[in-house]
Amino acid sequence: KILIVDFGSQVTQLIARRVREEGVYSEVVPFQKAAQAFHEMKPKGVILSGGPESVTIDTSPRAPQDLFDGEVPVFGICYGQQTMAAQLGGQVEGGHHSEFGRAEVEVLKPSALFTGVWTQGEKYPVWMSHGDRVTKLPDGFEVLAASQNAPFAVVADESRKFYGVQFHPEVVHTPQGAQLIRNFVREIAGCNGDWTMKAFRDEAIARIRAQVGSGRVICGLSGGVDSAVAAVLIHEAIGDQLTCVFVDHGLLRAGEADWVVSLFRDSYNIPLVHVQAQDLFVGALEGVSDPEVKRKTIGKLFIDVFEAEAKKIGGAEFLAQGTLYPDVIESVSFTGGPSVTIKSHHNVGGLPERMNMKLVEPLRELFKDEVRALGRELGLPQAFVGRHPFPGPGLAIRVPGTITREKLDILRKADAIYLEEIRNAGLYDHIWQAFAVLLPVKTVGVMGDGRTYDHVCALRAVTSVDGMTADFYPFDMQFLGQVATRIINEVKGINRVTYDITSKPPGTIEWE
Ligand code: XMP
Repeated sequence: KILIVDFGSQVTQLIARRVREEGVYSEVVPFQKAAQAFHEMKPKGVILSGGPESVTIDTSPRAPQDLFDGEVPVFGICYGQQTMAAQLGGQVEGGHHSEFGRAEVEVLKPSALFTGVWTQGEKYPVWMSHGDRVTKLPDGFEVLAASQNAPFAVVADESRKFYGVQFHPEVVHTPQGAQLIRNFVREIAGCNGDWTMKAFRDEAIARIRAQVGSGRVICGLSGGVDSAVAAVLIHEAIGDQLTCVFVDHGLLRAGEADWVVSLFRDSYNIPLVHVQAQDLFVGALEGVSDPEVKRKTIGKLFIDVFEAEAKKIGGAEFLAQGTLYPDVIESVSFTGGPSVTIKSHHNVGGLPERMNMKLVEPLRELFKDEVRALGRELGLPQAFVGRHPFPGPGLAIRVPGTITREKLDILRKADAIYLEEIRNAGLYDHIWQAFAVLLPVKTVGVMGDGRTYDHVCALRAVTSVDGMTADFYPFDMQFLGQVATRIINEVKGINRVTYDITSKPPGTIEWE
């Protein structure tokens, strides 16, 4: 077991993820609770996260002294390194040497931390993000690697197994960072790497039972993977104390609503209320063209409908949501600075407060691919858990301009053909998200001997690891040609197809 002490870095959960990837169980605990957790958990190693504060300020957070007295290996990252150095008798200075982004460190000495990864005398790229830096080492410590602005980029007291790095090994921009973390948890702390998703499932079930007791839980299903996995997990924990509510807003892809309903009712026997609210939503959206107004209209209606259903069910004090870790940190940029709302993704923000319910969010620590693995562990079909992410407002934001029922129907048909072709070509799992967009533009065409004047359909497909950045998928032209031919021949209302080759940034994945 590894204890991760959180000093408030935006990427602390990435550390946890890296540790999980090594098959080692970890718990993230806020620094205020670290002493208690340390004694209860008896970890084999401790990782101190980064954080936004400055060690040079007296009131800034510290690691409990017990951590350093327990004869357990400690790995301090960024702020964690600085507070460790300061607490053990070294010195940290603030101010003039802020370093953000890519840097190079030169390895000065071999170390257990570098085994099989970094070689003495070589330089390696790392990702820095700090204002302060260590300027004097505590007794027993030595410098293992240095960068231009951080002479103490990696320091250690190998005899006590204390390690500190100024950069962030947990982010992908530090290419060998995951291996350094691996060396710490496996080689230095001696964890054996037999932890699995099965273990996560068991622990999550125990946590849900402890939180909910004999209470009743309502879970809103969106039709997507996350809420479905959360619901199946919670059902496994508390059985029919759970009721699922699926608000069908009529903005899902072809066939999806039926799929969700039959999966829950027939395969899992989970109590499910299927609210047919298609007319309500589509009626309210007709004529709306502003993307943010679309999102807000859908979000507000969803809350109204959901709340009414919850009242009918009655007696539930818990609301379950499939919140993932990226939802928790979303819209907060890693390098700091004020972040602006590009799109308001929080579809149902405000729901728990308004309904005065407590939240059950068993997936809060996980990333998308981990949720899929958990879904498979719970027996959900691969075709279901492997589906591309789908936005809460659904097809409403894939009809730029004013929405009409007719446009939604046209889009659904085109989208189904596109996805069918992608699946048939064996490309579905290589793509993060693929979908059709129905443009509010009509162009002239000729079919048979007649003139047509119909909509343009844009196809989008991107690769991505987390949806934060993305690149367009390089289909071959023949494939695109085949999809275009099918769409134009089979879908009345579309006479032209284009392919979107914009990356994110500067584009976004969705068109609205
Ligand atoms: P963008 O378009 O911002 O999308 O590059 C990034 C990811 O988020 C999804 N997305 C949404 N998801 N509500 C959601 O639940 C929304 O309003 C929303 N807008 C975009 C998008 O599909 C992609 O996976």
